[in-house]
Amino acid sequence: MLILFWMKFSLKKKAVNLDTLKVPEHLAVIMDGNGRWAKKRGLPRVAGHRTGADSVKHIVKSCDQLGIKYLTLYAFSSENWNRPESEVEALMGLLEKFLKERLPEMLEDNVRLKAIGRLDMLPKNVRDELDHAIAKTAANTAVTMILALSYGGREEIVDAAKQLALKAVAGDIKIEDIDNQMLSDHLYTADIPDPDLLIRTSGELRLSNFLLWQLSYAEIVITDKLWPDFRHDQLVASLQEFSLRDRRFGKV
Ligand code: IPE
Ligand code: IPE
Ligand code: MG
Repeated sequence: MLILFWMKFSLKKKAVNLDTLKVPEHLAVIMDGNGRWAKKRGLPRVAGHRTGADSVKHIVKSCDQLGIKYLTLYAFSSENWNRPESEVEALMGLLEKFLKERLPEMLEDNVRLKAIGRLDMLPKNVRDELDHAIAKTAANTAVTMILALSYGGREEIVDAAKQLALKAVAGDIKIEDIDNQMLSDHLYTADIPDPDLLIRTSGELRLSNFLLWQLSYAEIVITDKLWPDFRHDQLVASLQEFSLRDRRFGKV
């Protein structure tokens, strides 16, 4: 009995009280583990992606509740184009369906949609749904949900470098004026603050070409939970971990 009481007390001490929970302004998520989630259940990988899309719906609502203003979701990487054609097709189909089905909810919940990546590589039907949903939600003021699609951090920096080079050649900018801010202003995320927190699900300890520039000073939380199992409680647990971090930004 005493031991139980002690265990309860010491567990409580470690957890951050919800009232003092630090909430990032911008949360970035590498939504990983859909395939493994499906495999564990003897299901095709696409079933994992489908349930993963449900997690997106839940997490957007949680962000709104918790006061997170920006949520960037890594949904499809530059490298994911190298997956089997059938999986790429299934993912594109799910994306189109997600955009179509979720638009009324995004409007109701005041969610603003944005997308980053080489969007011109997406199939036209997906691109059309995306443009439509972005336009319809442009004036919304609650959570900004940024979908990283056909996205690669290196590609993004290359695209910014090309734009700067073109401007320099045209005489619109001086090479000596190129600094951190100017480069940031030419990334896909120009008008978005850098993420404070990166969460990666399914235990992998790598960035996989995600927001290489913007994550310079983000805190990183890795959870073993697979993305389709990641819901409100898991998000709060990750925020509790974030709340205990001492962010020093190179200072003492
Ligand atoms: C993440 O889940 C979704 C995408 C990359 C599109 P995965 O499909 O990478 O799942 P695992 O890593 O194989 O379990
Ligand atoms: C990263 O996951 C990309 C997305 C979540 C969209 P991957 O599953 O593609 O990354 P790797 O291959 O494990 O590095
Ligand atoms: Mg993966």
